[in-house]
Amino acid sequence: MAILFDSTSRLFTLTTAHSMYQMKADRYGVLLHTWFGMKGSAFDYSYRIAYADRGFSGNPYDAGDDRTYSLDALPQEFPVYGSGDYRSTALKVRYPDGTAACDLRYLSHEIHKGKYSLPGLPSLYDTLDGNNQPRGICDPTEHDAKSDTLIITLEDTRRMFYVHLYYGVMEDLDIITRAVCVENHSGLDIYLENIQSVCVDYLHGSYDLHTFYGRHVKERNHQRTPLGHGIHSVGSTRGTSSHQYNPFLILSDRDTTEDTGNCYGFSFLYSGDFLGNAELDQYNQTRLLLGIHPDNFCYCVKPAERFHAPEAALAYSAQGLGRLSRIFHQAYRTHLCRGKWTAKRRPVLLNDWEGVYFDFDGDKLIQMARDAADLGIELFVMDDGWFGKRDLDVSGLGDWTVNEKKLGCTLKELSDQIHGLGLQFGIWFEPEGINEDSDLYREHPDWAFTVPGKQPTRSRLQLLLDFSREDVREYIFSHICQVLDSARIEYLKWDLNRSLADLYSASLPAKRQGEVMHRYVLGLYDMLEKLTQRYPDMLIEGCSGGGGRFDAGMLYYTPQIWCSDDTDAIERLSIQYGTSFGYPVSTMGSHVSHCPNEQTRRITPLNTRATVAMSGTFGYELDVNKMTEDEKTIVKAQIREFKEYYDLIQYGDYYRLTDPDTADAYHGWEFAAEDGSEALLCIVALQIHPNGPGRWMCLKGLNADSIYTVNDEEYPGDVLMNGGLLLPTAAEEYESFRIHIVECPAV
Ligand code: GLA
Repeated sequence: MAILFDSTSRLFTLTTAHSMYQMKADRYGVLLHTWFGMKGSAFDYSYRIAYADRGFSGNPYDAGDDRTYSLDALPQEFPVYGSGDYRSTALKVRYPDGTAACDLRYLSHEIHKGKYSLPGLPSLYDTLDGNNQPRGICDPTEHDAKSDTLIITLEDTRRMFYVHLYYGVMEDLDIITRAVCVENHSGLDIYLENIQSVCVDYLHGSYDLHTFYGRHVKERNHQRTPLGHGIHSVGSTRGTSSHQYNPFLILSDRDTTEDTGNCYGFSFLYSGDFLGNAELDQYNQTRLLLGIHPDNFCYCVKPAERFHAPEAALAYSAQGLGRLSRIFHQAYRTHLCRGKWTAKRRPVLLNDWEGVYFDFDGDKLIQMARDAADLGIELFVMDDGWFGKRDLDVSGLGDWTVNEKKLGCTLKELSDQIHGLGLQFGIWFEPEGINEDSDLYREHPDWAFTVPGKQPTRSRLQLLLDFSREDVREYIFSHICQVLDSARIEYLKWDLNRSLADLYSASLPAKRQGEVMHRYVLGLYDMLEKLTQRYPDMLIEGCSGGGGRFDAGMLYYTPQIWCSDDTDAIERLSIQYGTSFGYPVSTMGSHVSHCPNEQTRRITPLNTRATVAMSGTFGYELDVNKMTEDEKTIVKAQIREFKEYYDLIQYGDYYRLTDPDTADAYHGWEFAAEDGSEALLCIVALQIHPNGPGRWMCLKGLNADSIYTVNDEEYPGDVLMNGGLLLPTAAEEYESFRIHIVECPAV
């Protein structure tokens, strides 16, 4: 059993394959956090807490004259506002009398077989039922669950509400999940002003905080900062997880590297506002919090109602950042993404966006598709511009009716012709968006987010629909379904091209307007769930101006997400490198585009563009008609090669070998089969120097005692990992190499 409870000491010890997490309900019923890290004896780690008179840090009343007991100093599992803990806390509740000071104590707990699921919210799952729904907690006899659930209930000492802390212990995956539920039993309304899904307190240690910052067309840059005293926070108040900061954080020891040292990953399964807070306190203790950003949040919980805060996934690695990433990669690939495309080979696609933008008709698309089919491409995607009045990005959003005049045919006719060429067909939507110049806006202006009496904030000259409203969602859903049902469509790209603003919902009373942002996200999830239920075979790709909503919440509905609107292969090295810390390559939408690149005007070899795009979902985004015959020959070979390496790339172990922003001339990464039987080494020459020094790259994940063949030469595995492979000399800037390394059969 991965969850142990010692009733004498009221100690909870949770173990996964390599990690341990421990809590203890102490003598006052306060739930202390006593350990998260290396797996070891289920010893009571609270022995490490030093009690001393804590000046100016208050003492709970029931501690009597004991001045050494202060919640301001103790490591806690779920610290709350107003309890005498002046650090950042995980919960702030406004009581019916207007006060907010709170005190929680342990009441009870339950241990279940199986992994809990959350109503209306994404969560990691142990197993799915026939409808792709997580089975949730279960009777141990029911099925062979590999995970366990612990629910600890704390009670508010004013007897107004319970807090249920959920823990999913996914032993084999090395993941522990957390979620929180507040249950109101007061008979009166209470207001949640802050609820964080995760709090982890570290008693000592000096940590680096790793965050992933960016902007549109430059997402998820890796930043590593030594934590000093005070609070370092990242987050989003944009209504999406955002381009600017990603809801994935790592704490590591100062000397942790890719392959060595302790590190702790925190991933939030949520696609809206979030806050990640790391605080180094007066006693050199570190507190990490992750949850919904409190700024746009105030949620009324009615009598007898429950509020579920989203899930977060936690992992610990004693073997550096690389191993930490691989824990998340495996868990997200196999126990977060759902549906047919999770484990099935996905088609190589051609997206028309950078090829033609809005300038197309049906004939042009068919011509592109014809050439694409010749190249071995399997799916043709018609991006923005096929609906309503949409020849530029200033109008038409919201009018999900096919512009047959522009296409010169019906959608069915277009799709049939594309299928006739042996291709699948896909289509773009931006369901949440609305232009003021649209029939929908003219008919229902109140469906767009605007604050009464204030001019709205536009972005890309558009507004957003109030997805917190069921009637709005139903309307859009039915119109999307009409389009999807009118033709054979195997792929859908779900885009969102602005941040939320002017949050006001005509459907909610004034005192509940603080719920709009969260209700919007729940509405988005509701719609995505309905879509995946109704079209279980459809491949859905998430997108928000590229990677503005690249998060674990979305991956529960869309197994891949367009990584960035920046398709420049060299820029993509950093973007995909940063993304790889928390997310597997199988989720990273990545395409070969034409040169000079649309975003940077940079020219890179076609081979290099493919090396980079292959380290993602792989596709093309250009006008195939404009390619030369030589280029077409190269592309055909690339597609064949990608299919050959598909399993190794998509399901193999991913290793970062260098950091593209600091790499010494050559940047490299590697995919290795789990059993070490083969590997694919990818190298991009960032600089070339005439008469330059030799370059080596040390491989990882091979079997030390085996012999490997590389370009017809043989090397022992330990030699390739320790001495490295001498790399070919690049003849031009940005040249790349894909080097296959194969284990020789044992003699
Ligand atoms: C966003 C997407 C692009 C493309 C355009 C269409 O920017 O990220 O891939 O779909 O919208 O308007």
